[in-house]
Amino acid sequence: MKALLLCGGEGTRLRPFTHTQPKALLPLAHQPILFHILDTIATTTIREVVIIIGPNGKPIMELLRKTNPWGFDFTFVDQPTPLGLAHTVLLAREALGNAPFLMYLGDNVLDEPLRPLVNRFVCEKPDALLLLRRVKNPRHFGVARIEGKDVVQVEEKPEHAQSNLALVGVYLFSPAIHQAVRVISPSPRGELEITDAIQQLITDGKNVTYHLLSGWWKDTGTIADLLAANQYLMKKLTPAVAGEVKKSTVKGVLRVAPGSILKNCRVVGPVTIGKGCRISGSTLGPYLAVGDGAEITDCHLSRTLVLADAHLKGVTLTNSIIGERVHINSQQKTATAHSLLVGADAVLEL
Ligand code: TTP
Repeated sequence: MKALLLCGGEGTRLRPFTHTQPKALLPLAHQPILFHILDTIATTTIREVVIIIGPNGKPIMELLRKTNPWGFDFTFVDQPTPLGLAHTVLLAREALGNAPFLMYLGDNVLDEPLRPLVNRFVCEKPDALLLLRRVKNPRHFGVARIEGKDVVQVEEKPEHAQSNLALVGVYLFSPAIHQAVRVISPSPRGELEITDAIQQLITDGKNVTYHLLSGWWKDTGTIADLLAANQYLMKKLTPAVAGEVKKSTVKGVLRVAPGSILKNCRVVGPVTIGKGCRISGSTLGPYLAVGDGAEITDCHLSRTLVLADAHLKGVTLTNSIIGERVHINSQQKTATAHSLLVGADAVLEL
């Protein structure tokens, strides 16, 4: 079996951050979303991964060419325009060959081992095995109607949902899907929908079954979901201090990568600090993830992602995302916490 990992798309809901980097490289806890996904795929027997990349996807190729602890065999397929999830299957036809495959959306994170599912798919050989999860707001998702072990209908974001079973962004397909994606037409929003291709399989009398997910799952497509996913994953971190921590108090889990120095800080974990950071006089956490090379002085930061090489001085932030190389310098002595979303390279004097 192979995996098809979708890292194209524009990520409009995660702007401004997706103006400068692909969504899959945004960090959650201490590593990119992409690495969380590859960790999950690595729990299966799959070793060949086909990755769809969009026009801003070059950094993904560069990163995976130098970092591949999983030992995956990667193939990259360009998608110049995001014409839909089923469009990526059309583009990946040659790279996938006649192998059955696991299709994984590059912004979905699961806390569930996939190995049993892949094993079930290999044993039972259905044409599709869908991951479903009960949700409160099915209108925002692809929705499945089931009868016994079968999926009998799927619909994309229906006005009147027939069930509360949402399609999680992880699917297992036999090569029968290649015929289905060729016969469907673009939806009213102009995309080739994977739900339409799955419905085509059902209409053609193919065997479409499901697995009901009970564990945690997050589609990190929005800022709120990204921050929520970060908090969930940070709760699972274990302490690891390789850098220096001086004259500071630490409660809860702290991770400090090599080459970083924390001085005169109050840490309320979970907090994770990347490599080569300089941090002093600050209250850090909970749920603070700081990227490599950041400098933080006299700040209060909680529930926040600070991306690589950002410089922050004198700010109180919560539920914020601070982009790469951002400089924020505040002279105001206010305890009021701001929630800021600041794209890469911005400079703010407050
Ligand atoms: P979406 O979240 O549906 O789309 P998007 O990432 O472009 O975001 P937005 O709606 O905010 O503009 O995509 C789900 C995943 O699938 C995401 O990881 C990107 C990927 N994708 C592709 O690779 N190609 C595509 O044509 C589309 C639509 C998405």
